[in-house]
Amino acid sequence: MASVTFRNIKKSFGKTDILKGLGFEITDGEFVVLVGPSGCGKSTLLRMLAGLEDITGGEILIDGKVVNELESKDRDIAMVFQSYALYPHMTVGENMAFSLRLRDADKGVTAERVEKAAKILNLDKLLGRYPRELSGGQRQRVAMGRAIVRDPKVFLFDEPLSNLDAKLRVAMRAEIKALHQRLKTTTVYVTHDQIEAMTMADRIVVMHDGIIEQIGTPLELFDRPGNLFVAQFIGSPSMNVLAGTARKVEGSFWVEAQGAYWPLPDGAKVTDGQSVHYGVRPTDLVLAPANQGIPAQVVVVEPTGAETELLVQVGQEKLVLVMHGRTDVGPDDTVYLALDPANAHVFDGASGLRLD
Ligand SMILES: Nc1ncnc2c1ncn2[C@@H]1O[C@H](COP(=O)(O)OP(=O)(O)O)[C@@H](O)[C@H]1O
Ligand SMILES: [Mg+2]
Repeated sequence: MASVTFRNIKKSFGKTDILKGLGFEITDGEFVVLVGPSGCGKSTLLRMLAGLEDITGGEILIDGKVVNELESKDRDIAMVFQSYALYPHMTVGENMAFSLRLRDADKGVTAERVEKAAKILNLDKLLGRYPRELSGGQRQRVAMGRAIVRDPKVFLFDEPLSNLDAKLRVAMRAEIKALHQRLKTTTVYVTHDQIEAMTMADRIVVMHDGIIEQIGTPLELFDRPGNLFVAQFIGSPSMNVLAGTARKVEGSFWVEAQGAYWPLPDGAKVTDGQSVHYGVRPTDLVLAPANQGIPAQVVVVEPTGAETELLVQVGQEKLVLVMHGRTDVGPDDTVYLALDPANAHVFDGASGLRLD
């Protein structure tokens, strides 16, 4: 097991700057998820840690030692990719043993490690099968098994579940998390899927355009997004955001947006007349009794059984509201929106930074 440190990491391909100076630390045993839109540089950063990509600037440390010049095979890292090419002519057991055989590991030790990994991954009855005789999820587990048998200091995962169907993805997500709880090996996991990040991570690093937008636990990012990008990237459905103006009315601040006054939490640091973005999560909007909230027109009602999602219009903007249970409101009805001011988020109109 090991800690990992990134210090002012830069990466350019030709004249294009992909990573623009990133720094953060991963503590021993932590499960850190790098999340961000496609093309923001997640795989590049992971490949640099693995030693598969040159470092343009900065330092990467594993267990306090700079590894910039260390070859990939000497970094004691195991990587699981999205396309987990198994050797088709080798059995599950042979696939898992292969990297150890390459290293001339002792036969007894190899067999022991393969057996142990197979047990952990529920593959012990499948060791004699060939990859073509396995389901997608089983193959993915073999790919993980190959990583586990090496007993590396750090596991790297690059979108390992992207090729699986939705149901299997959820199941494998839980398996990888359980695996980490059991082995406690430091893990860096890359995904563009914020739900995967939220459900798996000890801490999430939100990347965007080659910089870090925010680092925190899943709930820190959800409850207190540091800027508008994180606010809209984390959470599903996305946070509703309205452009508006802060107004001081009888000693307290509100946001005027789309012809309505929206409440602000205590401690919101705004000034009268400041242009802001006002944010509220769909699950924090509620339907108020008639005439006791902000009037809105219902556009679409989507019942999913346990919950109902409403698309409503306020002024020129559409907002999403998710309520528990069911409703008898329908399209074109007028409803009234309310929220607990403590659940509102406010960001500067120009910088997008959180204001509190
Ligand atoms: N070998 C390369 N040569 C040139 N550009 C590259 C290379 N690898 C990645 N890129 C570019 O770097 C950016 C980041 O890529 P990547 O790290 O794969 O993003 P992500 O994994 O976040 O989707 C993309 O714009 C991609 O086109
Ligand atoms: Mg990638």
